[in-house]
Amino acid sequence: MWKIYHLFLALLLVSCSSEPRERFGDPKGEQYVARGRALANGLAACGHCHGRRPEPTSVLEGGRSSYDRYGEVLAPNLTPDSSGLSAWDSSDIMTAVRSSLGREGERLSKEAHAGFEWISDEDLLSIVAYLKALPPHKNKVPRRSVSFWARNTTGFSESHDEIRGFVPTIDPSFEVEHGQYLVEHVARCGRCHNQRGGMLSSEEYLGGGETIKIREGEQTRDQEAPAINASAADGLGDWSQNDIVRYLKTGETPDGRVTDPKFCPWNFYRNADERDLKAIAVYLKSLPQ
Ligand code: HEC
Ligand code: HEC
Repeated sequence: MWKIYHLFLALLLVSCSSEPRERFGDPKGEQYVARGRALANGLAACGHCHGRRPEPTSVLEGGRSSYDRYGEVLAPNLTPDSSGLSAWDSSDIMTAVRSSLGREGERLSKEAHAGFEWISDEDLLSIVAYLKALPPHKNKVPRRSVSFWARNTTGFSESHDEIRGFVPTIDPSFEVEHGQYLVEHVARCGRCHNQRGGMLSSEEYLGGGETIKIREGEQTRDQEAPAINASAADGLGDWSQNDIVRYLKTGETPDGRVTDPKFCPWNFYRNADERDLKAIAVYLKSLPQ
């Protein structure tokens, strides 16, 4: 009996032990910190969730809510304090951002980082360098725990494989491809502008329909993200490239409405390079009508 039990235990251990995590070095040098700062406060908009307020100048001390399939989740403290990332190395941070896995391999909110799977090594290592250079801020953010039951019902289709391998940076002179990379893996417009739908939804690429919920004190507010593909009916079909660039810098639509940056983070996007914003516009206009 005991032998069988031990055999079972040994098999269990073999099946649980995973390959060692991929290791990354520490990028050193002020140019990485500067690039990381521009991305975190620009198109990657880390502070939209991890900031004390959803603003690019706000301290990345965590504590604000976002919502995923399991409900409300608080963004952790990203500053190098003991209540934040002081014990994390570059590889730990890369894996949390790309694969939504914590230091002990625990599963983190997947939707929050959806799209970052294929952010380039150079871009993400620059963001890591920027986080490590931040002044530490003490703020212990409570962890959410997801029940075993919810993991296996609500979360049954969720996979948390570690993303491995080198992700190169695209040469920005390939404007459409660079724009696609920024839309899908840095600014991640589809996190909101795609329907989250499953196999049964009639999902259309950047076709809108996701309802975004935000918390303000005791209240929550929600707002549907519209289509931003090239559809003339409800997308950006009749917006010009300049209209899109102007929107990303000011939040203003051609008909003179200004959207709320708590929902659509143009207050971050406005800090990006003009060249990057133009590439996004070129890519969105290149989509089939
Ligand atoms: C949509 C909101 C959102 C955005 C944008 C976002 N995060 Fe997160 N982040 C979260 C949430 C939520 C968690 C996980 C909390 C959990 O599951 O307990 C998390 C976890 C993390 C963790 C793991 C920290 C820990 O203590 O477990 C790191 C590191 C991290 N994020 C870095 C970043 C970086 C860097 C960016 C920008 C490139 C970013 N995040 C953008 C919401 C966000
Ligand atoms: C965190 C969710 C979120 C992200 C990320 C996001 N958006 Fe939005 N966006 C929204 C919501 C919600 C609205 C509607 C706001 C309103 O009407 O007040 C919106 C509105 C817009 C509009 C105005 C459309 C119209 O017809 O009124 C444009 C254009 C737009 N977003 C483009 C983008 C682009 C391009 C990106 C990526 C670079 C992006 N958004 C990323 C949530 C998001």
